[in-house]
This record gives sequence, structure tokens and C-alpha cells, in this order.
Amino acid sequence: MTNSVDLTGTVKDEKTFPARASYQVSTGAVLGHTLQCMTGREHRINKSLVAPPFRRLVSAGYTDTLLEPLAHELIDSFAARGQADLVQEFTTAYPVRVISALLGLPAREASEMSRWAHDLFNFPIDPDAAVRASQEFTAYITPVVAQRRATPGNDLISTLVGSTVEGERLNDDQILAFLRLLFPAGADTTSLALGSLLAALLTHPDQLDRVRSNPEEEVPWAVQEGLRWEGPVAMLPRFCPEATTWQGIAIPAGTPMIFGITAANRDPARYAEPDRFDITRHAMPLTAFGGGPHSCLGNWLALAELQAALTVLLEHLPGLRLRADAVADAKVTSQIGAALRGPNALHVQWDA
Ligand code: HEM
Repeated sequence: MTNSVDLTGTVKDEKTFPARASYQVSTGAVLGHTLQCMTGREHRINKSLVAPPFRRLVSAGYTDTLLEPLAHELIDSFAARGQADLVQEFTTAYPVRVISALLGLPAREASEMSRWAHDLFNFPIDPDAAVRASQEFTAYITPVVAQRRATPGNDLISTLVGSTVEGERLNDDQILAFLRLLFPAGADTTSLALGSLLAALLTHPDQLDRVRSNPEEEVPWAVQEGLRWEGPVAMLPRFCPEATTWQGIAIPAGTPMIFGITAANRDPARYAEPDRFDITRHAMPLTAFGGGPHSCLGNWLALAELQAALTVLLEHLPGLRLRADAVADAKVTSQIGAALRGPNALHVQWDA
């Protein structure tokens, strides 16, 4: 058995380790028949139908029009105070507001969306809350989809309603399942990633200074190193339907599998001194966004969101630092089982 294994090739291997069997059990009951539960042609067509608004250049285009103005708006509400808990007041709200804005939904429902997003992914741990969140979210979003079918606008739901690939369109069930997946997959993950990135920089003030002194150059590398050092998605669930031998390990048929993303991103065979947070290593996290057919649909949007948020926070809150009495709280912990990780609080102050 080897200590270091190649996860990038493994997650591409849908035949040996399909995603669908795991997700049908872990999220299917509350999210429905989502991309994660699909395979083969159905997955390819459905992913192509929803992909255009999340492509690299489209996502980068949101920076000026949506991401930076939204980050400024959220920070404006507390900037004069000189201190805040960034998890409570910024990192939790920002990605939900981004997705809500893209879908053309009102900002005032963002805290409700945030709760639904969290509860939906929490199905294996709190099934009752997840079922409730699924029912409430579906009741809220179904009339919105009907309204966009009747009167399409300039928003993502209208795009989904109208898009065609190989002569196929999304029906209402497919759109609803996609929207139920979008909030937990896009909002919870990005909130946690932003919290962990800020926790890393705030507890490494020399590196925070480096980012502050040259944001254009350093923000993208800080984001990449944050995702490597403490990615929000810690593991990929898979299933092994037929007996196989993988990297010297005999795996019996019917074995549930967990591939450790966070472990792969600290593999000493790939990263020198992997436990050191170092934005100058200029290394990409190989598996933070998964890989192969089920790789993250929103990776470009997530990168644009993280970069915009960090840039605006440093610009808008001069001298941003952890409050001296709250350094111990800036700790990344497990949020949903061991699958998602991020900090519970980030009590900071700045020169107001
Ligand atoms: C830092 C933030 C994010 C991280 C670390 C992340 C990570 C991941 C990972 C690891 C997967 C693969 C899961 C698997 O193979 O089992 C995934 C899939 C997915 N992500 Fe993300 N994600 C992030 C943000 C987003 C955003 C912003 C969106 C959308 C707006 C999004 C939408 C999706 C969707 C729809 C899938 C399922 C793709 C499929 O099954 O084909 N994610 N994400």
C-alpha cells in the first residue's frame, strides 16, 4: 500500500467509483434528482444546460457588476463600528446574496436562504430539518419558476427555463432539483471557504501584510493557498459497485468510499511542508473542486467571489486584524459531520 495516492485520476473514474449511488442516499431525498445523482448522457446534457452562466469569463464579469458592489454594501452596514464578527455579518451572507442576485430573488430573503442551504446539506445528521427546508424552499421557489416561464427576465432562472442542448430542455422537476442543489452547493461551501481563508490570513499577519501591500498580485494566490490549506469540502463520497483493486488496496463489491480532499491537499509528496500556510508557494489545490464529470460547476464563480470579497474587505477595513481577546476563536472546525469545514466566528477590528 502506498501513502500517497492520486485522487485526481480517481474522482474522474465514474465507472469504478460512481458518485450517484452515494448522493442518492446522502442528499437525494431532500434535493431530488440533481446533477450529483445523474450519470452518463443525462448528466452531460443537464450539466451543459446549466453551465453557461458559470463559465470562466462570465464569472469573472460578475466582479465589477455584482461581487465588489455587494461586498461594499454589506461592509457599509458595519464599517463605522470598528469591530464585527465577520462570520455573522459578512461571510455567511455574501455568497447567498450572490446566488440570490443571479437568480433575480429579493435580498431580504437571504437569511432564510442561508438557513435552507445549511439544513439541506445537513440531511444525514438532521433529516427532519432537511426535509422541512426542502419543503419550504420548494414552496417558495416553485411559483418563481412558473412566473419566469411566463415572463422571462434577465436572470439565471429565466436562462435555465429557456436553454436547449441537443434539442433537450430542462423540465420543472429538473430546474427545481438544480435550484435546491445550488444554494447548499454554492453558498455554504463559499461561506466556509471565505471564513477559512480569512482565518488563515488573520492568524498569519505577515502574509496578510503581503496581500495588503500588493492585492492585485497576491489575492489570487492567497485564495488558492486558502483552498489548499483549509478547503471547505473535506471529502468526496463515492461507492464501489464491483470488486476492484485500487492503488494496491483490494476493495470488495458494494463498498461505500470516502476520498479525503483535505488530506490530498496536504500530501507531503506534492506540497513541501504541507501544513504551512504559505501564499508564496503558488501551488494549486488539486482537488478542492473535485474533478472529472462531477467537478464543481461553480468553481470560477467561487474563485471570483473569494477574490472580490478579500480585495474589498482589505480596502474597506484598513488595519483589519483579529481582536486580541478572540484569537483562539478563529479556528476552523467541522460544520456538517466531517464533510464541511470552516470557522464559527471571526471577531475582528480595524482602524475606523
Ligand atoms: C469554494 C467554494 C466551493 C467549493 C470548495 C466547491 C467544491 C465542490 C466539489 C468538491 C464538488 C464535487 C463533488 C463530488 O464530486 O462529489 C462540487 C460540485 C458542485 N458544485 Fe461546488 N464548490 C464550491 C462552490 C460552488 C459554487 C459557487 C457553485 C454554484 C454556484 C457550486 C456548484 C456545484 C455543483 C452544482 C456541483 C455538482 C456538479 C456535478 O455533480 O456535476 N459550487 N463543488
